[in-house]
Amino acid sequence: MSYKTKTHRMAVLFGLLALILTVAMLGTACGSKKKSTSTTSAAPCQLQVFSWWTGGGEAAGLTKLIAIWNTDTNLGGGTPKCPFVNETVAGGAGSNAKAVLAQRLAANKPPDSFQGHAGKELLDYIKAGQIEPINSIYDANGFKSVMAPELIKQITYQGNLYSVPVNIHRANVLWYNPKVLKAAGITITPGAAMTYDEWITDMNTIKAKSPKVIPLSLGEEWTQKQLLETTILGKLGPSGYASLFAKNGDWASADMTTAINQFKTLLTYTNSDASSLTWQDAGKLVIDGKAAFNVMGDWADGYYSGTVKGGNLAKTPLVDYAWTAVPGSSGVFDWLSDSFTLPKGAPHHDAAVKWLGFLGSLKAQDTFNPVKGSIPARQDANPALYDTYLKWSLKQWKADKLACSITHGCAVSNAWNAAIDTAIGQFMSSKDVAAFQKALVAAHAKNA
Ligand code: GAL
Repeated sequence: MSYKTKTHRMAVLFGLLALILTVAMLGTACGSKKKSTSTTSAAPCQLQVFSWWTGGGEAAGLTKLIAIWNTDTNLGGGTPKCPFVNETVAGGAGSNAKAVLAQRLAANKPPDSFQGHAGKELLDYIKAGQIEPINSIYDANGFKSVMAPELIKQITYQGNLYSVPVNIHRANVLWYNPKVLKAAGITITPGAAMTYDEWITDMNTIKAKSPKVIPLSLGEEWTQKQLLETTILGKLGPSGYASLFAKNGDWASADMTTAINQFKTLLTYTNSDASSLTWQDAGKLVIDGKAAFNVMGDWADGYYSGTVKGGNLAKTPLVDYAWTAVPGSSGVFDWLSDSFTLPKGAPHHDAAVKWLGFLGSLKAQDTFNPVKGSIPARQDANPALYDTYLKWSLKQWKADKLACSITHGCAVSNAWNAAIDTAIGQFMSSKDVAAFQKALVAAHAKNA
């Protein structure tokens, strides 16, 4: 081969190599461009957050977070702006929101972040591959060491963390109107242990002395489930209650029959229009002096209290309303936690990452929780910012044994909860204890 031909061949080779390199470099550039547009949408930035916080107390807490998000230049208030889009769906305990969310996720139209309860409910989304692990958010913000360890357990799956908890709520609270009780000659010491029988005696006294007052106000279906849950907890105690969720959990036991009968008895003290009342409607009956007692989670404190600006009814704890553990469950904290997730395919991924980092911050937790009526998921929050009820709850969280809520997704999956809902719906009209217990046994067998 002549030198000329050789040189020509080498030139062609170099030319080819250069072409390959250029194409490769262009490819990388396009790839990275693609990557950045997939994480930061080409459309104007926004942060779509999905929750069920529309009502009194709940909306107030969310509004506080939105105000910070929209103005803080490190969050959505920077340049360009990334405004909060409130995709909340009304209905306490996510009674409507969860179905809407399921449809959106099935249609691949996730929001940037959605509310999910720590525990089995979150596990549903993890196992369905609908949310991303967020270990890097935990690492970047040092969240792991500041969040309550019990919570960390409930949001971890196969070594990965999947949500940022914003709070801890207590489900087993018996709220009452001290003035209504006083008028009937009843005194209850706030926070003191009460038995189921003492409670029934008090409600009989209300019936006799104040016949116009509803002894126990009740709302729509999920609030009935919460009444059942806390009654079961009162009867079985924390370890008996916890055993229900194991594979061999005994929902057919004699103690469970007693608990269901107690629930049936409690229903005889309630208002007949329960199914058409929201939790706020039922709770307000206590504040208005139209009912003596109500069993509700401590989001009711956020709704009642005016000690912290943002409380809706602006009432005074221990004067206009007071509380103790649901009878039989003193010393047990029936807990749940609202947490927020990073859905796969979140349209504004980078904004969602910022949002989750913000939610776990001390500022977000100490701003949100005093208004929402919950204690923070972080353990370094400032107790001075919390009202009289929440100070009690902060203490009880440390002192009490823990039980994981059924109604609010800690102990059971969405499918198991739905099976319990159907069984309660039937029981509310039939009042057939044996049939109800059988349905609960079947729900356990299918879902545990
Ligand atoms: C719970 C939720 C609380 C509160 C309540 C009533 O499921 O965890 O934050 O909103 O429902 O809607």
